[in-house]
Amino acid sequence: MARVMLTGGAGYIASHTATVLSERGHEIVLLDNFSNAERDVPARLRGLIGREMPVIEADIRDVDAVSAALAAHKVEAVIHFAALKAVGESEADPLLYYDINIIGAIRLLQAMQAQGVARIVFSSSATVYGQPDASPIREDAPTRVQNIYGRTKLVTEDLIRDLARTGKLRAAANLRYFNPVGAHASAVIGETPRGVPNNLMPYITQVATGERPYLNVYGNDYETHDGTGVRDYIHVMDLAEAHALALEHILANDVAVTVNLGTGIGVSVLDLVGAFERATGRRIPLNIAPRRAGDVASYYADPAAAAAIFGWRARRGIDDMCRDAWAWQARRSGVNDL
Ligand code: NAD
Ligand code: WQD
Repeated sequence: MARVMLTGGAGYIASHTATVLSERGHEIVLLDNFSNAERDVPARLRGLIGREMPVIEADIRDVDAVSAALAAHKVEAVIHFAALKAVGESEADPLLYYDINIIGAIRLLQAMQAQGVARIVFSSSATVYGQPDASPIREDAPTRVQNIYGRTKLVTEDLIRDLARTGKLRAAANLRYFNPVGAHASAVIGETPRGVPNNLMPYITQVATGERPYLNVYGNDYETHDGTGVRDYIHVMDLAEAHALALEHILANDVAVTVNLGTGIGVSVLDLVGAFERATGRRIPLNIAPRRAGDVASYYADPAAAAAIFGWRARRGIDDMCRDAWAWQARRSGVNDL
């Protein structure tokens, strides 16, 4: 087993990954500046996994702090989650995203190199594909970033590939997530979007609690089976399990891989609403609204590479995603009709 630092460790995907890593016997170290995470996440995690874990409050751009943490905890590998992730915000403030997502990654890699830590798993995104020619999308599909956020992910992937190619990193896995949703079955940790949720699932759950009156469906005239946008929603716990397998793969092999993480199943907005209503018994009023700028009609993964390389496939279906997303939101909103 290994000693692993999770940057952005108090965040949505990292905290769920921490539960799986701990169950598999890895020693985890969380590093986070808490700019987008609730401060009691580490305490909730300790309660969930029943073990203590070091928590370092630091910015990934602080090379000295990161270096000291890597040395103090004898870290053997890093899973790099820390970043900003809002497409609209990235277009409004490009330099903020270049600073945190790219310079932050460089500073982290410098600290890793200074401490001889040469293995990394990186949180990339299917956003790097932009408007795909077709789905399912394989890893060799063209990358056509269409926003600053996607640019920062592709640039960081390239940095990591170059460092692996030149022997500065011994192993690396760039993981391109499709659409993570849901929460840990305990409903103790989950997604905490700031303000009005941009993403579909948290918005649906807030309509279900009555915090939002209805869901705007951004376009029902796309070339899809029901006219609404199609995406590859993946349960955050499936994503967490993929990270554990990816980490163990790069601990055992000196390789550099780029892998899609999705179910391979395209689900439309109306499909998801229907599944949510069936899974929870809650009704979601709809308003058909104009298309959202930048949205593509349909994209979903070809998950074959993850199966071939990591032996991983998503196990949880859309009903599990809806049930767990609702349980988390209902608990946060004090709705107790579960
Ligand atoms: P999140 O915001 O919940 O987690 C990111 C964490 O990083 C937060 O805890 C935040 O406090 C921390 N952080 C941000 N800037 C930091 C800095 N400068 N120094 C230290 N910590 C910092 O987001 P998430 O949804 O868990 O996403 C995790 C990663 O996965 C991100 O890199 C994101 O781009 C990527 N990703 C997310 C999605 C998604 O839909 N959630 C999809 C694809 C890729
Ligand atoms: C999904 C579908 C919308 C909200 C985004 C980022 C991507 C990644 C994942 C970080 C689309 C429709 C949505 C609503 C709606 N994040 N929708 N009403 O846009 O596929 O991906 O999150 O890496 O970078 O772009 O996810 O959940 O915003 O939208 O009709 O209120 O739901 O049009 O078809 P998206 P989403």
